[in-house]
Amino acid sequence: MANPPRPAPQPGSIEKEFGVPIPGRILPQEQWVQTALKKVPQGHLDWQQLFGRVAPVVIDIGCGNGRSTLASAVAHPDMDHLASDALPVVIRYATRRANQRGLANTRWAVIGGRELLADHVGPASVAEIHVYHPQPYYRADQIHLRLITPEFMLLAHKALLPGGRLILQTDHPGYWRYMKSIVPVFFDFEERDTPWPHAKKGLTRREIIARRQGLTIFRGEGRSKPNLDLNTAIHLAESLPLPTFNADRKKHPK
Ligand SMILES: C[S@@+](CC[C@H](N)C(=O)[O-])C[C@H]1O[C@@H](n2cnc3c(N)ncnc32)[C@H](O)[C@@H]1O
Repeated sequence: MANPPRPAPQPGSIEKEFGVPIPGRILPQEQWVQTALKKVPQGHLDWQQLFGRVAPVVIDIGCGNGRSTLASAVAHPDMDHLASDALPVVIRYATRRANQRGLANTRWAVIGGRELLADHVGPASVAEIHVYHPQPYYRADQIHLRLITPEFMLLAHKALLPGGRLILQTDHPGYWRYMKSIVPVFFDFEERDTPWPHAKKGLTRREIIARRQGLTIFRGEGRSKPNLDLNTAIHLAESLPLPTFNADRKKHPK
């Protein structure tokens, strides 16, 4: 039997997932906004044109169902947020949630993170880049898909304003070890051993699931090194190892 249609969200209601509220409140329909970036235009994004104002820009890469972007957009109405994911279906759900919450300081795009930074983000134009729980990819033939690489660090460093923030989070100990081996080359990086203050019960869907499974959550925050010039950064990126770690969780117990 087909599932019954889901009831329309009630204005003022708070949606929950795994018992944890999804940030923001659903507004009456006449206050909904349009936040989909249906086609990423060629070339560098013009942030002022995209958001209709000048404000610091946060990029959330691999945003999944969008919890982290919704949380940041609610907590920081003075900042603009571009959330991206390679998977259209998750962007569809996330966009609808942002629309229903009137979060005009968000845009949502289907695009890979490397491609977004390499082709569409101008140098030194972004205040923060967030990556929560990038897929560790367990199969040998998928290892090349891992998002966090020396090249990705180079692209993130290039996109961020001097001193801009890079936020990384994973529940995979092997991936975390790898991140910690390359991130400090480009960023002044510090681990954080407590949940983010604006999302104590879990900032992302994957974090909530991982916590329910008893997994450790690894979080860290880096500041883009201001005196690292592009040529030096390129040389450094070329000298660093690729993420070829064995992702088998038995080899990386929590
Ligand atoms: C484990 S999920 C985490 C989602 C969300 N950040 C969270 O913590 O709940 C990884 C997400 O990254 C997306 N993804 C995988 N490769 C990507 C890439 N190269 N660029 C952008 N998103 C990617 C997947 O579609 C998926 O939604």
